[in-house]
Amino acid sequence: MDLRIRMTEAEIAQEAGDIFCRCVTQKPNAALGLATGATPLALYAYLQQEYQRGIVSFREVQTFNLDEYCDLPKYHRNSYFTYMSENLFSQIDVQDHNIHFLDGNTTDVAAEANAYAQAIVDAGGIDIQLLGIGRNGHIGFNEPADHFTDGVFRTKLSESTLEANRIYFSDIAMPRYALTMGIKDILQARQIILIATGEKKAEAVRAMVKGPVTPQCPASVLQQHADVIVFLDEAAASLLS
Ligand code: F6R
Repeated sequence: MDLRIRMTEAEIAQEAGDIFCRCVTQKPNAALGLATGATPLALYAYLQQEYQRGIVSFREVQTFNLDEYCDLPKYHRNSYFTYMSENLFSQIDVQDHNIHFLDGNTTDVAAEANAYAQAIVDAGGIDIQLLGIGRNGHIGFNEPADHFTDGVFRTKLSESTLEANRIYFSDIAMPRYALTMGIKDILQARQIILIATGEKKAEAVRAMVKGPVTPQCPASVLQQHADVIVFLDEAAASLLS
């Protein structure tokens, strides 16, 4: 793992964002794996800025989001689709037909999983996968478990995840299930960029970097990937000696 500790979220957003921009400039039809949550917001703002400055175009890019809540309408204000539309897609020139999202309301998860896997193959595989990390070490919504997962599956959100995300669901009950790409899907990306900021992530970061590779800390599996860049602020890195 290539660990990069930076002073501010803005520095991380710029450095990570430049990696995305370079990738897309070199390969205009790159496939980007994207994440939601608080962590990537600064990065997405940076990508918008670079698009508006004419530095980069996403016109031929394909995007694949990691996960989506179950039992929430696609256009609900709390869906991850809405999050991505508001924070990135509507602000850049990515084309709607190149945006790939899991259907959290599908009644046939196996068919959804196969279709997503096929769409990734058709796009030539994911070039860069962006990840955040949960306080419990989850990536995507691969929660601590007794085995590593393969492809897309329906997952029960852990108490830790429910607690961390409940703030976004003030007026409705938070969904308890989500569809997520599996660990094997994530590891197939050519390059992985994980960002973690804040002291609440410090223990998960320590377990990811220093701990054994175990499905109890799903992010620890990234130790086995050949090209992972981990961007941390000092708080998130505080338990790394
Ligand atoms: C979201 C996702 C999750 C988040 C993680 C951190 O698409 O894949 O793994 O990256 O829960 O969330 P934040 O950034 O809100 O702390």
